[in-house]
Amino acid sequence: MNKPAAPRTFHVKSFGCQMNAYDGERMGELLAAEGMTATASAEDADLVVLNTCHIREKAAEKVYSDIGRIVKKTRAREKPMIAVAGCVAQAEGPEMAARAKAIDIVVGPQAYHRLPQMVAAAANGARAFDTDMPAISKFDSLPKRIHRRPSAFLTVQEGCDKFCTYCVVPYTRGAEISRPWAQVMDEARALIDAGAREITLLGQNVNAWTGDDEAGRTQGLDGLIRALDRLPGLDRIRYTTSHPNDMTDGLIAAHADVEKLMPFLHLPVQAGSDRILKAMNRSHTADSYRRVIDRVRKARPDIAISGDFIVGFPGETDADFEDTLSLVAEIGHAQAFSFKYSPRPGTPAATMTDAFVAEEVMDERLQRLQSLLATQQHAFNAGTVGKTVDVLLERPGKKPGQMIGKSPWLQSVVVETAEPAGAMIRAEIVHAGPVSVNGVATS
Ligand code: 5AD
Ligand code: SF4
Repeated sequence: MNKPAAPRTFHVKSFGCQMNAYDGERMGELLAAEGMTATASAEDADLVVLNTCHIREKAAEKVYSDIGRIVKKTRAREKPMIAVAGCVAQAEGPEMAARAKAIDIVVGPQAYHRLPQMVAAAANGARAFDTDMPAISKFDSLPKRIHRRPSAFLTVQEGCDKFCTYCVVPYTRGAEISRPWAQVMDEARALIDAGAREITLLGQNVNAWTGDDEAGRTQGLDGLIRALDRLPGLDRIRYTTSHPNDMTDGLIAAHADVEKLMPFLHLPVQAGSDRILKAMNRSHTADSYRRVIDRVRKARPDIAISGDFIVGFPGETDADFEDTLSLVAEIGHAQAFSFKYSPRPGTPAATMTDAFVAEEVMDERLQRLQSLLATQQHAFNAGTVGKTVDVLLERPGKKPGQMIGKSPWLQSVVVETAEPAGAMIRAEIVHAGPVSVNGVATS
């Protein structure tokens, strides 16, 4: 094996959820603080970090094929240093490194603050593996935020103690932890100083966040949101992902009276049948979910609801699936994600092999659910036509003169404007597409 040279450039490729995107940014900031420069593509980098996701099938296979592609594309020069990070690294890193000799570094999601030392070790010819979950939080050792886009993620909570029977997160991300109040507020201020106008608070169970404020009073996520609301320069606050059981009265009230808290709620229910919800260990019922949505809608009538769904959980019958469709039909979603159940190694549901649902049945259910959800998304978009809203511009659109931004309901709005990314403009929504809307600038 060739000894990789000390890298001067790097590229971080993130898969999966927004928390992974956040971790990817922080790894980038860490490497930049070491004097390394980011490249636009993996092919040009001396160090490639594959920040992987383990939530659904074929995660490891995707990493192998990515490594193969990188090695092939860079054949003309020396192989770049390759680091596998994220949840696949946590779950299967050492096995993967044994199989793929091109892997120089394996680093788990709770250990990536040690990446610079690992890179140094790899440059000396030693493969470096670290999938510890150290007691000292990585957040204490990361550099100040240099994120320079109008919309930023901020991880406030990590891990999960809920142990849904299908899910790997409690194993890959560890136990639930909340970042301390002061640390979150400092990071928010740094993001705003660097140009963020919107902050999305992230956590696998973000609404379970808890911490003590400056006065020593214990606060929930709503308290944190109210404090962020007072920060000058911040225009929008969002949070994701939430669990229905942690939608407290305080958080629901914040939706009624914190103007900067955007009218959007991603609140996964997963399934509509109580029998399946029980087997999933969700610890809520379809009805208790309906009641949460009713309370939220009472507080903020125009709130856009989003969710996650799994079809074909072991033992799911046609009748169970019909319950999911009825729940979806009742709720009405502005957007949603839906997946076929995929057995994850080490999770309780993966052992229910006798009850596995046939692939064709899952395909058919997924197709029916997705077509219903697509109709709902289109209908939601159509319902916003004629409204004039604030649009936070994020990036140029496909055509010259076009920009794409976000409405308060997280719709992508395509609009003609000379204003740059980061500007908040007023626009009337004039046309609804299936996944985006068109706006006309009014200011
Ligand atoms: N199979 C299919 N989908 C899953 N999700 C989590 N674990 C699995 C699995 N084993 C989905 C859930 C979750 C989202 C992030 O991914 O819907 O909310
Ligand atoms: Fe993937 Fe879940 Fe890990 Fe996010 S937390 S990277 S979705 S496995």
